[in-house]
Amino acid sequence: MSRKPIIAGNWKMHLLKSEAKELFEGIKNYVKDYTAKELPTVVIAPVFTSLAAVETVACDCGCGGNKINIAGQNCHWESSGAYTGEVSVEMLKDAGCSYVIIGHSERRQYFSETDEMINKKAKAILAGGLIPIICCGETLEQREAGVTDSWIAGQIKAALEGISSADVAKSVIAYEPIWAIGTGKTCDSDEANRVIAMIRSVVKEVAGAEAADAIRILYGGSVKPSTIEEQMSKSDIDGALIGGASLKADSFNEIIDKTMKLTLAAK
Ligand code: PGA
Repeated sequence: MSRKPIIAGNWKMHLLKSEAKELFEGIKNYVKDYTAKELPTVVIAPVFTSLAAVETVACDCGCGGNKINIAGQNCHWESSGAYTGEVSVEMLKDAGCSYVIIGHSERRQYFSETDEMINKKAKAILAGGLIPIICCGETLEQREAGVTDSWIAGQIKAALEGISSADVAKSVIAYEPIWAIGTGKTCDSDEANRVIAMIRSVVKEVAGAEAADAIRILYGGSVKPSTIEEQMSKSDIDGALIGGASLKADSFNEIIDKTMKLTLAAK
């Protein structure tokens, strides 16, 4: 099956409203020349306070697709309540989001997010009709100790626990080796592809072959315009989750452009 690539920009805790608006306009200006069918699935994840400065951009060709989709960077699993500082799936949907990033290593590391919490968030996101982008990845110590595969398999099994195969098929996973995030050191693309194929086999084990074939699994960790073509040429890498290089319209648009041209050339 051919899976539509995803290029997702994780803006992390960057950009004031006016800056977010300017970056958004720069991306919007690039995608206007293409249809949603030609483009990869483009997702941007601003901070909550900038969600009002961006918007979903629907395709004007009548295909019903979107040229730009919006994501939350986190959510709570309850729909409302006394959870100071949190935001629910319904609230993200209300703000125009159709995706939510969960389990990013920065959330796991600095905010003590556990596999169990990530599982509850994934279920709430899917129940609300949105798509989770579930992050996983190993530390340098884990990689050097040779436990990368078992660690990631554990993260994926825990995140997908109790989720139907149909919902798993719609979900997105992002493999982000922690040592490659924001460091400028990308994971060797053959190795990233190997780990992603391993993740796909774990998905097959827990949700069946159809879900494993349909689920889109991204690579993240210092992705740049100069690395994307090699990464996208690998069999199991379905796109990228991009931090630093998503903060400038030029580099993010170049990544979208290269991904689109590779996909169109492969057809
Ligand atoms: P980076 O971040 O592209 O800056 O390495 C990726 C991420 O954390 O999603």
